[in-house]
Amino acid sequence: MATSIESPEERIWWNTPVEKTEVLWVTIALIWCLFMFFMMIYWHIAGNQNISNEAYYISTDAYEAKVEAFADKYTVREEQGVPVVHAPPGSDIYILGRTWEWWPILELEEGQSYRLHISSVDRMHGFSLQPENINIQVINNYEMVITVTPTSSGEFGLICNEFCGIGHHTMASKMYVVAKK
Ligand code: CUA
Repeated sequence: MATSIESPEERIWWNTPVEKTEVLWVTIALIWCLFMFFMMIYWHIAGNQNISNEAYYISTDAYEAKVEAFADKYTVREEQGVPVVHAPPGSDIYILGRTWEWWPILELEEGQSYRLHISSVDRMHGFSLQPENINIQVINNYEMVITVTPTSSGEFGLICNEFCGIGHHTMASKMYVVAKK
């Protein structure tokens, strides 16, 4: 029996019937691929694990202006020069990533829903909320919108998990969730 290492015995080798076991394995592999593919869709809904987001095109200047207007309106205090913004429950809240900071610091209320907007005004960053393990890719010109409802209160860590240059490791901030009154 010829192996694939040797040259084929017949010049017209592609007319040879396919071995039964090969057909079987290709069929099994195809069924497995389809199973894995539909599992991604099923698990998105049933697994309650992935975040459903909306994405819109926006220029970096327009996004920056939106975040600044939002911060001007709802800033309640400052921490090391960074505004802490507490918007009314149910509102649209905004944060931006830029080399190498998250701006501003958001303060949410436990059990309340918000529409969280995230984008970058320069290069790609990664929004990683700890210890919740929420990860969102932050790309300039894409405004991501996620509906969030914090289920616990406290101080959460916010780091960048996409390598974005020499200051990547310093791109850390926080997010506050205040407890129900
Ligand atoms: Cu921003 Cu890494």
